[in-house]
Amino acid sequence: MPPYTVFIVDDEDTIREGIAADIEEDYAVNTFRNAEEALEAAPVKKPDLVLLDIGLPKMNGIEALKHFKELSREILVIMITAYEDIQSVIECMKAGAHDYIVKPIIMEELEVTIANALETICLRKEIKALQEVQLRKNVPCFIGESKAIHDIMDYIEMVAQSPDTPILIQGDTGTGKELVASTIHYQSPNFQGPFVTVNCATIPKDLLESEMFGYEKGAFSGAGAAGKRGLVEMAGGGTLFLDEVGDLSLQAQAKLLRFLEQGEYYRVGGVHLQTLQTRVISATNQDLDAMIVRGEFRKDLYFRLGVVKVKIPSLNARADDILPLARHFMVGFGEKFAKPVAGFSSAAEKALLSHNWTGNVRELKNVIERGVLTAAGPTLTPADLGLEASFGPSESGAMGFPPIPPDGLDLTALTQSMEKYYMEAAMKMAGGNESRAAGLLRLNHHTFRYRRKKILSGDL
Ligand SMILES: Nc1ncnc2c1ncn2[C@@H]1O[C@H](COP(=O)(O)OP(=O)(O)OP(=O)(O)O)[C@@H](O)[C@H]1O
Ligand SMILES: [Mg+2]
Repeated sequence: MPPYTVFIVDDEDTIREGIAADIEEDYAVNTFRNAEEALEAAPVKKPDLVLLDIGLPKMNGIEALKHFKELSREILVIMITAYEDIQSVIECMKAGAHDYIVKPIIMEELEVTIANALETICLRKEIKALQEVQLRKNVPCFIGESKAIHDIMDYIEMVAQSPDTPILIQGDTGTGKELVASTIHYQSPNFQGPFVTVNCATIPKDLLESEMFGYEKGAFSGAGAAGKRGLVEMAGGGTLFLDEVGDLSLQAQAKLLRFLEQGEYYRVGGVHLQTLQTRVISATNQDLDAMIVRGEFRKDLYFRLGVVKVKIPSLNARADDILPLARHFMVGFGEKFAKPVAGFSSAAEKALLSHNWTGNVRELKNVIERGVLTAAGPTLTPADLGLEASFGPSESGAMGFPPIPPDGLDLTALTQSMEKYYMEAAMKMAGGNESRAAGLLRLNHHTFRYRRKKILSGDL
């Protein structure tokens, strides 16, 4: 089967059949006497190239060219024309024709023109394939071993398939809401379109509406003379990510609702209805239910935004993710800072697992970044991560030992961190003099030095 499909549309039998006979060995050729039949066949046969006579009966070649281009911008069209039609040729080139040939047709020339056009198609296809690979490579790395994260990944892979279903992502700060939003974008059919983020909390409330929906010139005092495209418009054919959606004013909420329901909106000060297709993903860590009760958030908008809901649990609730995430960040920062980090000491792993991650994954990422940057050796210790339990004497002078959490505690790790704490405090008191610091702790100098070295390298 020849790889390219070529349509020949000409009402002159000799030209149509002559060209067909010449090229049908190399391409899948379809011939048509008029543009109407060719356009009807195009959606099924999907031509790569159309040789199109300008002077056709009924619909002329220029009209037909526009229809072919509407069907697909990928179809290349070569116009066939008589000399006297040169004015029309210019019009055709402006309307998107790829090239033209002039009657009487010289077959060798036509063959070269066709071969050049098909090379263009081949190159375009290659570029498109490369772009797709490149874009898919940008897919963010969403790490997680816990069942909760696996379930979320399966779910978002499924819901991403629709190009425009609204999705609401809920979760505490730093749980990965924005990352989930961009993962959905890159897995969706809109992945080649733009991913536009609007942080509703950082745009002043009185500007939000015009920033989102754009404005016409002179819409309000201070509006630019030329008017402005809104962020919604910029996200056309892609994804609009509304972060902190709970911060939208009631007026902007009403406008957003109309847009979500009908795909239509007006620019601020505008009279022309704008229509657009984009997927809206929204996120919040506010309690929208409580805001609805207080009359601060529209219930109908809440339902529309949350046709599909994704809830990301806090990091503390998915302990299985802590070490995989920590290792992922460690490798990333190791490469970034060109530091040969090999892993975490077992004490560091324990510290990572027992820490209370109120800032969730963002806090973990920050801790690892600092740890990799400042680590002395290849193995990261609790000290490198700044995750030692602090239980020195409290201000009142009494020992402030931490309480035992419900699932118990690691006494060995705690004892080690206490030992480290006092060793460092003694070194400070002794102005960096090891033997004096050892004396303060009733240890002989060698024992002090040996244990301190072990602790600092994370070997204990
Ligand atoms: N599962 C994950 N895998 C890899 N990186 C993650 C994961 N979850 C979060 N991160 C990273 O943690 C940081 C915080 O994530 P993100 O900004 O998506 O959180 P958020 O929920 O939007 O936070 P906020 O509510 O504060 O806006 C980002 O750098 C993100 O890349
Ligand atoms: Mg965010």
